[in-house]
Amino acid sequence: MNKIVIAIDGFSSTGKSTVAKLLAKELGYIYVDTGAMYRAVTYFALENNFISKENFDKEGLISELENIHITFKFNPELGFAEVYLNGKNIESDIRTLEISQYVSHVAKISEVRRKLVQQQQLMGKDKGIVMDGRDIATVVFPDAELKIFMTASAETRAIRRYKELLERGHNLSYKEVLQNVVSRDEIDSTREDSPLVKADDAIEFDNSTITIKQQLAEINKLVAEKLS
Ligand code: DC
Repeated sequence: MNKIVIAIDGFSSTGKSTVAKLLAKELGYIYVDTGAMYRAVTYFALENNFISKENFDKEGLISELENIHITFKFNPELGFAEVYLNGKNIESDIRTLEISQYVSHVAKISEVRRKLVQQQQLMGKDKGIVMDGRDIATVVFPDAELKIFMTASAETRAIRRYKELLERGHNLSYKEVLQNVVSRDEIDSTREDSPLVKADDAIEFDNSTITIKQQLAEINKLVAEKLS
């Protein structure tokens, strides 16, 4: 069967993963959340004291990269693949505000990016994959058959992320979440290596106003066109 690569990029909390997961399920494709991979490296950096409020030992982290093994394992109950670091399930540990506050700094490191991009390209070599992130359409799969770029206002995104974190039992304020969303976008879009930019041939969706159902319907139409 004809299979394609679907690259979904965009700012933080634009609902990329929600759409990507549903799309992958409908198409019977693999879904890969590349943000989870950068979060896993950040989790490792925190656990091993390479990063703290006062200090960031980048060289130390780089020297340990060969000891970081990130894998995904499908959880049939949840309907998606959870992320593992060196064999340990860290899916819920990486979704904290603390990780969100450090992850963009870790994602700036070229050595980290090279390692993760190589793994991502391997995962997509047989196509039939929906991958979301920041540089998927520009760096990981510049030849992807379908490229989507998601946007939404910072406030819409912060409200979404805030609700999500509250539901998971985290105790924080909306203001903190908004600040994190804005600051991550700034770092992700202005970094030197693989900044978040819309690929020239990507199709833009502003989902502040349209529902997930509408987005899915639109994207499915685009997929059908690509497959025909
Ligand atoms: O999608 P997310 O919010 O879980 O991503 C966490 C961070 O990882 C994000 O702020 C930037 C970085 N990231 C990246 O640099 N490149 C990717 N392909 C995916 C995420």
